Amino acid sequence: MCGIVGYIGNQQAAPILLDGLSKLEYRGYDSAGIAVYNGEKIDMIKSKGRLKVLSELTHDGETLPGTLGIGHTRWATHGSPSDINAHPHFNKDESIVVVHNGIIENYLKLKKKLEKHGYEFVSETDTEVIAHLLDYYYNGNPLQAVTKIMHRMEGSYALGIVFQDHPDELYAVRKDSPLIVGHTKGGNIIASDVPAVLKYTRDVFFIENEEIVRMTDSTMEFFNVDEEPIEKESVRIEWDVNAAEKGGYEHFMLKEMYEQPKAITDTFSPRIKDGKIVIDELNMTDEEIKAINKIMIVACGSAYHAGVTSKYVFEGLSRIPVEVDVASEFRYRNPILEEGTLVVVISQSGETADTLAALRESKARGAKVLGIVNVVGSSIAREADNVMYTWAGPEIAVATTKAYSAQLISLYLLAMKFAYVKGEIDDTVLSDMLEDLKSLPAQVEMLLNNKQKIQRFANRYLAARDIFFIGRGIDYAISMEGSLKLKEISYIHSEAYAAGELKHGTISLVEEGTLVASVLTQKELYKKMISNMVEVRTRGAFVMAVTMEGNTEVERAADYVIYIPETNKYFTNSLAIIPLQLFGYYVSVGRGCDVDKPRNLAKSVTVE
Ligand code: F6R
Repeated sequence: MCGIVGYIGNQQAAPILLDGLSKLEYRGYDSAGIAVYNGEKIDMIKSKGRLKVLSELTHDGETLPGTLGIGHTRWATHGSPSDINAHPHFNKDESIVVVHNGIIENYLKLKKKLEKHGYEFVSETDTEVIAHLLDYYYNGNPLQAVTKIMHRMEGSYALGIVFQDHPDELYAVRKDSPLIVGHTKGGNIIASDVPAVLKYTRDVFFIENEEIVRMTDSTMEFFNVDEEPIEKESVRIEWDVNAAEKGGYEHFMLKEMYEQPKAITDTFSPRIKDGKIVIDELNMTDEEIKAINKIMIVACGSAYHAGVTSKYVFEGLSRIPVEVDVASEFRYRNPILEEGTLVVVISQSGETADTLAALRESKARGAKVLGIVNVVGSSIAREADNVMYTWAGPEIAVATTKAYSAQLISLYLLAMKFAYVKGEIDDTVLSDMLEDLKSLPAQVEMLLNNKQKIQRFANRYLAARDIFFIGRGIDYAISMEGSLKLKEISYIHSEAYAAGELKHGTISLVEEGTLVASVLTQKELYKKMISNMVEVRTRGAFVMAVTMEGNTEVERAADYVIYIPETNKYFTNSLAIIPLQLFGYYVSVGRGCDVDKPRNLAKSVTVE
């Protein structure tokens, strides 16, 4: 996910581009750049880091004078965040410049072809291919060059393009990545999303797949891929600027919860090929996988909870023993890392100081470290021996949701892969599991659409003092994450317990009306869980249950039940966590808390 903008008109372009990019930083923030035509040639400034760095470098746009330009804020996919990989990208003589949001899937093939024709590449990005491909096809007719490259590119793209020898025109085109254009008082503007243009216009055109836009400072023309003109109608945007940035959602957290089906799909689909799990990034032969005799998982917070879940999955499926540790404890306990131990560190940001320190400690002790990381090119991604990315896209809300869900998927894939290589599961089991995995996005979506029911329930607990979460096995891991989601954003005290452990002390905290959220998704543990629920209920607790469809028996012991669809027993966390995320979210909203930026917390914890 990246953000693009473009402007042509009678105003200075650079300040408008920087302003537009500031509204798109939620789409990516690891590097940014702008290119502006100065009357003779195209000037470009780009840099790794947040937009702030670019604003400083350009003196808020002053150092790039001109009234035609394009800009980009990046979320790295191909090539780590760096000045060189930042957009825009030039062709060889710097007469064509491009910004891109999307992924060109056949870029390696195109790159090889272009190299044969003498093109030299300076970056690791797929986007640079577009600039050179345009150059290859350009014969003075920009529209023709654009349609030609459309026939060659596979994948997704929204592009903003400037041709130096057509200095009165700005081109844009899209396929499977969003693009809107709008007419402003003094010119025309393009962007990836509405927030970037709202300050300038409320009437926008939504560009559809394979449509091309040619704009001057006063005109706007639309074409199809056959270069035929097409008619389009503008749409009036009524949202306020704040809501627009969140795509119409009230909070980033809600938006990101809704992005979970996509995050899950994007994380598993590139790794399933012909019914098998292919994790190239693992860089391990089958023999090396068979030689793993212990997995040591190290992470913090929710990432740690994903790790705890995976202990049950790895051990259950592959029979490899797993230890899970919070990173801040791991390095000070003189961990035993022997030959055959694989260390897996999990981190959304890739910058968490404790996790990074644990990674370094593991490497210093000679262990092989696999990172499961969301932010491409982050410190953990760079320092781990191998990195498996969770393709959740940028996460803005401090409380993680979609990155956590993507972490679970990566861990399931690894566990299934190890189990299959070790011969612990056969083709039939693998194929059934993959079918269940592929059903998760639709099931998650269905659970999200049930949000009103959870909201009504949550509204009853806005004044709660303590809320407990209980579960056994994987359900205990789910409880830990459910409890963290609630407490970190609503400030209500909450704890998660292994359900059987309650009677060893904690049950004395249960009073009349205390909410005990019980998670029971593991069929073999239903009966035991129901006993624990009865124990708290007889002491006055109000018992809420999250369980799998069909377990109507639970209604005997619960006052309120949320059913999740049937899935493989190892994947239940991915479904059961959804109502718990929604519950935490709506309690926080109802209490008037700052959902996206809870007090005392930061998205990336770079201190120990
Ligand atoms: C909770 C949350 C945190 C993070 C933790 C690790 O919602 O987001 O507990 O999971 O700070 O952060 P990363 O994954 O960036 O290492």
